[in-house]
Formats: sequence, C-alpha cells, structure tokens
Amino acid sequence: MTILKIDSSITGENSVSRQLTARIVDQLRGAGSDVIERDLVEQPLDHLTLDAFADSSILDEFLAADTIVIGAPMYNFTLPSQLKAWLDRILVAGKTFRYTEAGPEGLAGNKRVIVALSRGGFYAAGSPASALEHLETYLTGVFGFIGIVPEFVHADGIAVGPEAREAGIANGLQEIERLAA
Ligand SMILES: Cc1cc2nc3c(=O)[nH]c(=O)nc-3n(C[C@H](O)[C@H](O)[C@H](O)COP(=O)(O)O)c2cc1C
Repeated sequence: MTILKIDSSITGENSVSRQLTARIVDQLRGAGSDVIERDLVEQPLDHLTLDAFADSSILDEFLAADTIVIGAPMYNFTLPSQLKAWLDRILVAGKTFRYTEAGPEGLAGNKRVIVALSRGGFYAAGSPASALEHLETYLTGVFGFIGIVPEFVHADGIAVGPEAREAGIANGLQEIERLAA
C-alpha cells in the first residue's frame, strides 16, 4: 500500500493537524507500506498557472497513492492556500474527473482519503458559526467531485482555551482509533 501524507499547517511542532496526520499514518502503515510525505509549507507549490499544467508530478504522486492522509487546519474559515494550490493540481479533467452527457463523473473513486481537521472554534450544524464553515464542506464537495467520499477526524475548539484544546485533540485521537484498518 502506498500512503501519501500531505501537511499544510504553518504552526510547526505546535500543530494539531500534523500531530493527527502522523498518528493516522502510524496506525495505517503496515509492513511493506510505502509512505510519501509532502509538506506544503516546507515546499510550497506556486499558485496555479496554465504553465503549471505541463508539470503533472503532483497529480502523478496522487494517482500512485492508495490512501491519502491530509492535515487540514482551518485558516480564515477555510483551507490554507498551500493546500488549495495542491488541490488545484489534483482536479484535472480527463484524469480525476470527466464531463459526460449525464454530468460530471469522478474518476478517482478507488482511493481512500482521510482528512484531519483542526479548527479553532466549533462549527457543528446549528451552531452560531456554522455558516462560516468552508473547510469540511469544501473538502467534502471537492473530493466528492472526483469520486471520493473523504473520512474526517475532528479536533475542534483548539483556540478556545487549554482545556478545550486538550479535549479537541483527544477527540481527534479517538476518532483515529475508530478508523477502519
Ligand atoms: C492564520 C490562522 C487563521 C485561523 N483562522 C481560523 C478561523 O477562521 N476559524 C477558526 O475556528 N480557527 C482559526 N484558526 C485557528 C486554527 O484553526 C487552529 O489553531 C488549528 O489548530 C490550526 O491547525 P494546526 O494546529 O494544525 O496549525 C486560525 C489559525 C491561524 C494560525
């Protein structure tokens, strides 16, 4: 199995999403697994340009992976621009989706995507801030478009205070334990 681990938090050793992606990979990796690590902060991708489509290396790396583990911190109610630049290389017509007479069709449905979300606040449906949640909803839509139902683990309330941070991380770690092998 090839696991591709994608990190996009700017907070280094203090990062919750990085802690969770590391744990997910530890839990999933078996003997003989290949793990490829792509740190989008250490090695950022440029904004998308037309010329960038000539380089398919990021797409090829994604297509070669069986499982993709993504750390997705919430910045300003959505994903880091580093992660958006990566997604811009993954959504490619004819490779990961195509348009048919019946509408768009995802072509990447043979992959497993696990996303570790870390958010400063709380965004459950019905909560006051839920209208500002453009991270989990966006990633659900984008991966759905290419045929993948992503699995999420959640660490919420990270910026509320020390106790809430601890509880949020504990929740994320518990959700990781419940992921299928
Ligand atoms: C630049 C920046 C912007 C942030 N924006 C939001 C936000 O809009 N909503 C929120 O709930 N938390 C926000 N936070 C808090 C982070 O989502 C939270 O600290 C989370 O743990 C970040 O993931 P990380 O620990 O992997 O870096 C922001 C944090 C940073 C550094």
